[in-house]
Amino acid sequence: MIYSVLLASLGLASQAWAACTRESLKEATTSYIKAVAAGDLSIPALSSNVSYLENDKVVDIKTGVLSQPITVDFNRSLHDVTQCATFTEISAATNAHPYVIHTRMLFTDDKITTVQTVVADDGDWAFNATGQLYWNKQEAWEVIPEAKRDARDVIQAAGDAYLDSWSDGTVSVPYGTPCARLEGGSYTDTRNTKANTCYMPVFPEKFTIGNRRYVIDEEVGGLDIFNDFPFIDQDKPDGTPSTNFIRVEGGKLRYIHEVTICTRRNCGL
Ligand SMILES: *[C@@H]1O[C@H](CO)[C@@H](O)[C@H](O)[C@H]1NC(C)=O
Ligand SMILES: *[C@@H]1O[C@H](CO)[C@@H](O)[C@H](O)[C@H]1NC(C)=O
Ligand SMILES: *[C@@H]1O[C@H](CO)[C@@H](O)[C@H](O)[C@H]1NC(C)=O
Repeated sequence: MIYSVLLASLGLASQAWAACTRESLKEATTSYIKAVAAGDLSIPALSSNVSYLENDKVVDIKTGVLSQPITVDFNRSLHDVTQCATFTEISAATNAHPYVIHTRMLFTDDKITTVQTVVADDGDWAFNATGQLYWNKQEAWEVIPEAKRDARDVIQAAGDAYLDSWSDGTVSVPYGTPCARLEGGSYTDTRNTKANTCYMPVFPEKFTIGNRRYVIDEEVGGLDIFNDFPFIDQDKPDGTPSTNFIRVEGGKLRYIHEVTICTRRNCGL
């Protein structure tokens, strides 16, 4: 009796303490995507005091990318209940000005208090929104049955190993077979759908990919790592805004979408 009363009160308490739910995070990503499409700020959860960064720069949210309607051709989101955070990928290939947008939102008391968005367009790394949309739509990011889901640390470790391996050949990366990478609009897996085509050789230079910010969603094995990527952009030797949106299945990398901003147009070419 006492035990069940105790359990019941614990249950109530944990509900009261829960800072966010998957449902509230889903509502927020749905309104964010609608706001992008409409070009307005009608996101009910948006804090009036939101910290807003576009490509690592402080921008007035009213004059940034949300100030214009954008044709949303495709979208995917991650919902991280542990961190009260979300990630959204938007493919806007048929928009008059094509974009691929990766956005990370952080919540405090059910309000969106931080928005960090990486907005790629023509001249960014391997940018081709038509290609990005074409390949993206063919991928399957279905919900993983509960018994087969990876733990958060397994999902994060797979993504970290991939990034670390670019400048450290001793890191073992759990590439899946198959594994496919979409960099800008270029897909690695255009011929052999059974192969690991994500393998990345070690870069000819030592560097550390810093400022890693994670969003993790165990339901779809989803991970996004916002980071500052040094090496590719001579105008940003300390690191250019970059994100790797990853799906992990059974501890192994299945899909990787990279979006990287070039301050110097067509950097890396
Ligand atoms: C707005 O956000 C800043 C930085 O997060 C904080 O210092 C400030 O107290 C906030 N102001 C209000 C009115 O909430
Ligand atoms: C976003 O994607 C979902 C399907 O995952 C779709 O139902 C919705 O209409 C899309 N939103 C927009 C604005 O295109
Ligand atoms: C962009 O991708 C599409 C679809 O894969 C392809 O047909 C087109 O040639 C690409 N454009 C450029 C400039 O590479």
